[in-house]
Amino acid sequence: MLRRELLPAKPAEAVIFVNGEFLPQSQAKISVLDHGLMYGDGCFDAWCGRNGFIFQLDGHLDRLYRSVHALKLDLRMPKQEMRKNIIETVYRNTVVDFYIKVLVTRGISPEPVIDPRRCEQASVVIYARPTQYEVSPEKKESGIRIKVLSIRRVPHDSLEPQIKSLNYINIIMGKLEAWVSNFDEAVMLDHQGYVTECPGFNIMGITGNKLFTPSRGILVGITRGSVMEMARQAGLSVEEGFYSVFDFTEADEVFMTNTVAGIAPVVNIDGWTIASGKPGPYTKKFQEIYLGWLESGHHGTQVYPAAWSG
Ligand SMILES: Cc1ncc(COP(=O)(O)O)c(C=O)c1O
Repeated sequence: MLRRELLPAKPAEAVIFVNGEFLPQSQAKISVLDHGLMYGDGCFDAWCGRNGFIFQLDGHLDRLYRSVHALKLDLRMPKQEMRKNIIETVYRNTVVDFYIKVLVTRGISPEPVIDPRRCEQASVVIYARPTQYEVSPEKKESGIRIKVLSIRRVPHDSLEPQIKSLNYINIIMGKLEAWVSNFDEAVMLDHQGYVTECPGFNIMGITGNKLFTPSRGILVGITRGSVMEMARQAGLSVEEGFYSVFDFTEADEVFMTNTVAGIAPVVNIDGWTIASGKPGPYTKKFQEIYLGWLESGHHGTQVYPAAWSG
């Protein structure tokens, strides 16, 4: 149990880590010549936390550093130091149920032109804020309707989706297309028509005793990995491959996963009702297990050990 009376005092303003300093939000600034701002040249990752635990701290960190490596960013902060700074940002904000975001950009350019060679070392920003809802609690209960988008997911030979780059225009345009068409969310195909992922989420289906999910053209989600672990523990087989929209509309259950929203049931794809049109039993079971993991500190790192009593 987390004894809230033993937590550090709440700061008057949110505290944000910017290039080695913990600053009040009103003073936290990044240069107008930063390549991240000018060209989306950088990467990020996001964590969630409950009850004072950061979920899957190292899994997300490893993914962040793979993105940094793939983009050849000159990040001089070793992983262990980043880990320490992330924990300290949460601690200084005294948040208990929260999300964390880390940005790593290529850094500051001497001129507002594209020249990654002339950027100084990478810039780092760390936020830790109270939990946000990407899918409302009501929709997580009743399920959402998703649109099959006309915009395709960027192919890996243009921009590898396994890199969580700051270049999210493909995803943002996807979300806009879904919302102007009055859908809750959406799913994106690749150029061969196979399902890849939803804008900002992975997609998973269950048919019989099998959980299936796209293998390529996706960001390899940490929540996706957690659900695979739960599925194996529940006796399901887990398959990664290439699937059409039909595989999902004919599945027994479909859901989307990500760090901020957790597990969100999908009950309709482009007008096709999935099974009974209600969230399925495995989806509900996984939602429950996932919440239990977050709250109990399974795969978690405790930020306030002095306030934790068993
Ligand atoms: C494009 C994309 N796909 C999938 C995901 C899900 O990944 P995770 O479960 O690690 O949050 C995200 C996360 O925000 C994402 O941005």
